[in-house]
Amino acid sequence: MKYTFPLVAVIALALIAWIGSALGLQHLFGVVVPYAALLLFVGGFCWRVLYWAKSPVPFRIPTTCGQGFSMPWVKRDKFEAPVSTGEVLCRMFMEIFLFRSLWRNTKAAVKPGPELTYSATRWLWLFGILFHYSMLIILLRHLRLFVGSELFFVKALDAIDGFTLHPTPELSLYLTDALILVGLIALLARRFVIKTVNYISLANDYFPLFLLIGIALTGILMRYFLRSGVDIVAIKQLALGLTTFKPVVPADIASIFYVHLFLVSCLLAYFPFSKLMHMGGVFLSPTRNLANDSRMRRHINPWNPDIRPHSYASYEDEFRADMIEQGIPVEKELPQG
Ligand code: HEM
Repeated sequence: MKYTFPLVAVIALALIAWIGSALGLQHLFGVVVPYAALLLFVGGFCWRVLYWAKSPVPFRIPTTCGQGFSMPWVKRDKFEAPVSTGEVLCRMFMEIFLFRSLWRNTKAAVKPGPELTYSATRWLWLFGILFHYSMLIILLRHLRLFVGSELFFVKALDAIDGFTLHPTPELSLYLTDALILVGLIALLARRFVIKTVNYISLANDYFPLFLLIGIALTGILMRYFLRSGVDIVAIKQLALGLTTFKPVVPADIASIFYVHLFLVSCLLAYFPFSKLMHMGGVFLSPTRNLANDSRMRRHINPWNPDIRPHSYASYEDEFRADMIEQGIPVEKELPQG
């Protein structure tokens, strides 16, 4: 069930858009659904980020994976146990752009002996990087559909990413189209093949992977296999209309485009309510964005009640008469008279 349900759901979504657009519901799938999805995405994203931002973080709880600040002669690990804002920023940069925590991934195995061994496994890191960076480049390249003029970095990306093969000199092939599929399929295979990962995987781990594969496949179909039926000029007109809030739906856009766009809309609408929110969450994670300086600075919980220190001497001053009456020994006797 945990694989079939998400797979069937993605196929059903594709069929809904395919049949709907063929039945003349282009306005619904080309304008209403994308706007509604965008609204849900922006609203949901802000809501979740604000909710996290409002959560109290009274104490320093950074994850430390290296030697913390100690004696001057003890070599410390600046990025695994950062103590200043600058070091925290470096650590966050490495996490966000280089997926450093995945790079540190280790695998435990029991070898004959028996001996427990740990070895580095970087497959998750590699396929994670492949997928995320390919998607980023693809999205940046897509800007040519939404912006009237040609952007210089989109042109540059196009030139770096695209290459031509002899039989199709007029149509460049994009490296990222292959890499995004390699990344996504490997991430999916990991959840099928590795027993422990399979055991903890749920339908909502498979659904985004199937959905992203569906989006990439329909995009690839449109560009390389159904190209003659896909009118890019008409699609650009629709995309530009959406960005300028003057939507127009040209009549001659093939159904495969509406399937692509509908799957993207589903991804947008699903995003804020799913694990994909790690994109926003990584910035607000106190285990990552706090400095490990609990021993250098005194952190006081801001909503602690204001309890004044009460020494034993002042306690006895307050209750001396009662203590004597009850026969409790006191350090100072009551004043005479
Ligand atoms: C999560 C968002 C999206 C992803 C991952 C994605 C992915 C892809 C991929 C992998 C391709 C293959 C060709 C290429 O790499 O350019 C493609 C093509 C295409 N996509 Fe998307 N896409 C997304 C959003 C959109 C949106 C919002 C539109 C709406 C206008 C769109 C319209 C197109 C078109 C028209 C093509 C064919 C381009 C061509 O023939 O040159 N895509 N998409």
